[in-house]
Amino acid sequence: MVRAKDIRAKAGEEPLTMITAYDAPTAEVADEAGIDMILVGDSAGNLRLGYDSTLPVSVDEMASLTGAVARSADDAFVVADMPFLSYGADEGDAIENCGRMVKEAGADAVKLESGPHTVELTDRLTDIGVPVQAHLGLTPQRENETGLFRQGTDEESARETVELARAHEEAGAFSLVLEHVPANLGAAVTDTIDIPTIGIGAGPDCDGQVLTVDEVIGLSERTAPFSKKWGDVRGEMRDAIAGYKQDVESGAFPAEEHSHYEDDLDDVY
Ligand code: KIV
Repeated sequence: MVRAKDIRAKAGEEPLTMITAYDAPTAEVADEAGIDMILVGDSAGNLRLGYDSTLPVSVDEMASLTGAVARSADDAFVVADMPFLSYGADEGDAIENCGRMVKEAGADAVKLESGPHTVELTDRLTDIGVPVQAHLGLTPQRENETGLFRQGTDEESARETVELARAHEEAGAFSLVLEHVPANLGAAVTDTIDIPTIGIGAGPDCDGQVLTVDEVIGLSERTAPFSKKWGDVRGEMRDAIAGYKQDVESGAFPAEEHSHYEDDLDDVY
């Protein structure tokens, strides 16, 4: 069984792989592919739950999606993303919400979109045995405040990112997601801290990479400029569903081999 300390120890070793999953079959496939960490991202809000952003996602929704993933991944380390306002206001509520992901849903760790307000909470959670993955750079839960723009592009915010990375490492975070920051800042943060950095649009020097599964398999309509698609699941789904519709409409489905008859029923009508 992989633990947070095993992930932490991989900084500077083989690149760590992380991908999102929001359901059982995707978790099974990611696990079979040997992915190190599965993130049940609150990106589920846009990608699975039909919201316009991640902001409306609830703790109950995340617990349900995380449970499906955790029950289905035997080897990968499962990280549950904590949704907007489930932490950051009241410490007791935050601990209860994060605790639910581990106790009830079976996650191995939680991820907090981080800032100055999450340093103490990271310390408290790790003290009581809830591993925390920090997340700096573009943090979509702050989109009403910052917009969904590249972060760390000027000297002041780059310095702040490095400082916050250090503070979260000291507070006990086992790794740090760095989203959409310049590649040289990704490299600087990776050099500065000893816990693994997991980049998404943060350049090649991070200790690992994370992408949403929808982009990797080609399920989303769009791919972010820093992302890449390795499949065309959307096209395959469209073709399969269109083929099914066509066969039903033409009478080709169901055929003899999809039907069964019982002689005893011949006299029923
Ligand atoms: O919610 C999510 O999928 C994430 C990743 C993009 C890092 O936070």
